[in-house]
Amino acid sequence: MIFVTGGTGLVGSNLLLQLIDKGEKVRALKRSDSNIREVELFFKRNKSQEIFHKIEWIEGDILDITFLSIALKDVKTIFHTAAFVSFDPKDAEKVIQTNVFGTEGLINEAIDSGVGNFIYVSSIAAMDDINPVTKLIDEKSTWNNDAKHSAYAISKYRSEMEVWRGSQEGLNVIVVNPSIIIGSYDGHRESEKLFQDNFINNYAPTGGTGFVDVRDVTKIIISLYDQNLYNQKYIINAENVTYAEVLAHVAKKKQKEINSISNKTLKVLQLVTSVTKHFGTPTLDSGTYHALTTFTKYDNSKIINTLNYKFIPVKEAIDYHYNNYQKIISSK
Ligand SMILES: NC(=O)c1ccc[n+]([C@@H]2O[C@H](COP(=O)([O-])OP(=O)(O)OC[C@H]3O[C@@H](n4cnc5c(N)ncnc54)[C@H](OP(=O)(O)O)[C@@H]3O)[C@@H](O)[C@H]2O)c1
Repeated sequence: MIFVTGGTGLVGSNLLLQLIDKGEKVRALKRSDSNIREVELFFKRNKSQEIFHKIEWIEGDILDITFLSIALKDVKTIFHTAAFVSFDPKDAEKVIQTNVFGTEGLINEAIDSGVGNFIYVSSIAAMDDINPVTKLIDEKSTWNNDAKHSAYAISKYRSEMEVWRGSQEGLNVIVVNPSIIIGSYDGHRESEKLFQDNFINNYAPTGGTGFVDVRDVTKIIISLYDQNLYNQKYIINAENVTYAEVLAHVAKKKQKEINSISNKTLKVLQLVTSVTKHFGTPTLDSGTYHALTTFTKYDNSKIINTLNYKFIPVKEAIDYHYNNYQKIISSK
């Protein structure tokens, strides 16, 4: 039996579809207010509605240890994708609690319940040090405590450390570190903000980062699982692209143009929002400012060489998911 957390989210729903489709027995966690109708619609869009009923849903919360011990009965493998994905500093406490304490509790219960395998969706946000030779971040990159980080980045780093502790205590683990995921699901995911008509998308910051299609992320996770490639971590990144290029490509689809925003203006915004945050307005923290104004590049050679993998190009991923997103929004 496989246990999937976050199955009502972007990555988790894609994983559920592929696992069920290949005949795995899957138990999936939903919260009392999770919307599993969206998962069903996602299966339907992918012409797989007839297998949706094969998912065994269990209701609970990863922060509830007692629930977890029941949920993990007969489970051999956990795919842990659940997390609170937010870059808003006002969500910092909830981000740390859900991601760090949620992962810590799940690791502890996995060990106690005799679960053998733990597959964890971390993030490139948990990786810092640039390889001085390649000028890229690779799987050996460590965390730099002195650098500025968002609460989300800290939470993903600390969660990943919990998973490596689990590995020391006997679990077989696979850690994947996807770059920014391009995807479409219910119109409300962090990944779908790229397609929304919001003010921020009209202004491209000077930096850049890695991007990857959600379909690549889940296909790779399942290949690693199928091939038992445990006790390793893998960056999952299709391409390193500037924000300007990505935003311009989306804007072109909307027949719009984008403007650039200078580092100076962003810095002012960061300072102003650090004061206005006391009134509950959206805030730009220093970690996010750093990420937006730096072009950080990620090495994808390990996963390409391990699986002989060919990624979907970023522009193709945007085209596919932008069109999907429009259909999802207009059907609501
Ligand atoms: N999106 C990206 O660009 C990106 C990039 C790199 C790594 N990642 C990582 O990939 C994973 C999946 O991200 P995503 O984009 O698919 O996120 P998402 O669409 O926001 O889904 C998050 C999932 O976590 C569940 N969840 C949140 N808090 C929970 C709790 N306390 N107990 C149980 N379930 C809880 C949500 O359940 P509800 O439906 O009930 O809310 C939802 O199913 C995360 O670990 C994220 O850090 C994401």
